[in-house]
Amino acid sequence: MRVGVLTGGGDCPGLNAVIRAVVRKGIQVYGYEFVGFRDGWRGPLEGDTTPLDVQAVRGILPRGGTILGSSRTNPIKIEGGVERIKDNLAGLGVDALIAIGGEDTLGVARQLHDRGVKVVGVPKTIDNDLNATDYTFGFDTAVNIAMEAIDRLHTTAESHHRALICEVMGRHAGWIALHAGMASGANVILIPEKPFDIEKVCGYVESRFQTKYAPIIVVAEGAHPVDGQMDVQTQELDAFGHVRLGGIGERLAAEIEKRTGKEARTTVLGHIQRGGTPTAFDRVLATRFGVHAIDAVHDGAYGKMVGLQGTEIVRVDLSAATDQLKTVPVQRYEEAEVFFG
Ligand code: F6P
Repeated sequence: MRVGVLTGGGDCPGLNAVIRAVVRKGIQVYGYEFVGFRDGWRGPLEGDTTPLDVQAVRGILPRGGTILGSSRTNPIKIEGGVERIKDNLAGLGVDALIAIGGEDTLGVARQLHDRGVKVVGVPKTIDNDLNATDYTFGFDTAVNIAMEAIDRLHTTAESHHRALICEVMGRHAGWIALHAGMASGANVILIPEKPFDIEKVCGYVESRFQTKYAPIIVVAEGAHPVDGQMDVQTQELDAFGHVRLGGIGERLAAEIEKRTGKEARTTVLGHIQRGGTPTAFDRVLATRFGVHAIDAVHDGAYGKMVGLQGTEIVRVDLSAATDQLKTVPVQRYEEAEVFFG
């Protein structure tokens, strides 16, 4: 049995831990051979491979990024892309694929499965927005990075009596903002699921200054005001049709300064949230996902994704994971709102 492995979409801490677990269990327990595909779906599309054996995965558990490389290549958008992938897999003697990725990568996996490719999915994204799994690995690391940054912003904000805004990633889901904001005692958390009222935000800022503390506002990159449009830096779209988000923090700072007369400054955490070593939680989750993904291949459970439900690793249909995004429920936001202002 020869199994291909690829990592697609935005990278995140824990990808290497999954690869290591898949390869270690696959070789030690099942006696499989592996082929690494380079740069997400570009690998099988162009037949670009790299050796993947126990030696190749030694020492990679704590390493951020992905030894296989990643890309946002969408083979479905390329003329004859699916057939090229099928031909390359056959030519390389690859019997099954493990695709590690988010909504886009697993969406492609699902379509390939519908067209006869044997594929198992592993959910990854710092955004934590994949359905049918309570958590994706990478999220906990991103939240901890953001929390530490916000803790640091608190002390400098207070020294200078400034409102400091921290813009975090998460695309159209507010999970990173919600968790990082709650963990670090932000005064306001703004998420895409709940368009914000700028008057109310300024009210929180004023009341925080009145108590002699400096306000910290955590804003998700996809957050937007009630009456406004989604704030985007550019209209540039990727191969999956996603607009590149970013810029809401700066816009918010300008608006707060104008309305309150207080100095407001923005820190955009950006890709720092995706880099570096995974937390213990993410290393364990990624390792468990890897172990269960190769078990799924062994059982012939194709078209499935491994997911975390409670403390158990389960198998769900790729369609259940990719049909709709998992966004922040109203009740979760209400819990955080208790601490606003
Ligand atoms: O999906 C992960 C993510 O980091 C999002 O939070 C963010 O909007 C996007 O990827 C950024 O993508 P890129 O690195 O391609 O600009």
